[in-house]
Amino acid sequence: MAARVLDGTAVAAAIRAEVGPAVAAFTARAGRPPGLGIVLVGDDPASAIYVRNKLKSAGDAGLRTDLEQMPATATLAELLAVVERLNRSDVHDGILVQSPLPVAMGDDAERQVFDAIRPDKDVDGLHPINVGYLVQNRASLVSCTPAGVIELLDRSDVKIAGARAVVIGRSNIVGKPMALLLLHRHATVTICHSRTVDLPGVCAEADILVAAIGRPGFVTPVFVKPGAAVVDVGTSQVSDRAVVERLFPPESKRREVFERRGSIVVGDVHPDVAAIAGALSPVPGGVGPLTIAMLLKNTLAAAQLRAGAGG
Ligand code: GUN
Repeated sequence: MAARVLDGTAVAAAIRAEVGPAVAAFTARAGRPPGLGIVLVGDDPASAIYVRNKLKSAGDAGLRTDLEQMPATATLAELLAVVERLNRSDVHDGILVQSPLPVAMGDDAERQVFDAIRPDKDVDGLHPINVGYLVQNRASLVSCTPAGVIELLDRSDVKIAGARAVVIGRSNIVGKPMALLLLHRHATVTICHSRTVDLPGVCAEADILVAAIGRPGFVTPVFVKPGAAVVDVGTSQVSDRAVVERLFPPESKRREVFERRGSIVVGDVHPDVAAIAGALSPVPGGVGPLTIAMLLKNTLAAAQLRAGAGG
């Protein structure tokens, strides 16, 4: 039987429909809309698309948006100066510095930049103070993608409490906060990674399996317990024909898109998993739209918090 679709596009629309009136109410009360400053450094094409989508959604929701675009040659000091300006701004409630930063900025740049963002404007939830709050289950601002996965599960009636949950991937931005959010919702959580012994066997114990490793089609049916809910966080742009042919049959829609565009976005979960899983989030149209919806929600929350704090 084919898995039920965990429809991220529909869930994201429902969240945006809730955020819109709350943004309007804030704007009427405060005399200004919640403001989001996005910093994009360099010319990574995928980041440019993500940022464009974030700006569009935020604008549609009634937020003030400002894009700070910096060349790939920008120095870390220049980037930190922009962050500091946004930290001090009265009209910006949220700050997002798009990751990844240019390699030339150095290995430690991302950590330094995320550490420099004021915790109460950290709509990515990546500042160590917010991560600490998350560990203690009292966070106001949580990393958007994992927070979106929880919304997707909740609003699709996937029971989290008591479930065995397995998260593949241990990144700061998805894997670790995802595991904590599932734990706080009373799942029994395992985090898997590149050194996990018998990865398919561990994953096959999961009632909820979240894949966040960025390896196209890595999670095959042997990873999946029949009936499990599978959430695919992967978004890899694939232009290698061999990979596409391994994943999608000749007459399929995805192959058609690939032939037309020369590349397609592919998740971490192999399409054959749909025959085994009870529920599965598609790529595209799964987690992606939720990441943006949660960014809007976090920006509104940051504005409300700052207003409540008199700031
Ligand atoms: N790059 C990919 N996803 C994200 C995200 O959620 N936040 C930031 N800042 N950069 C990203």
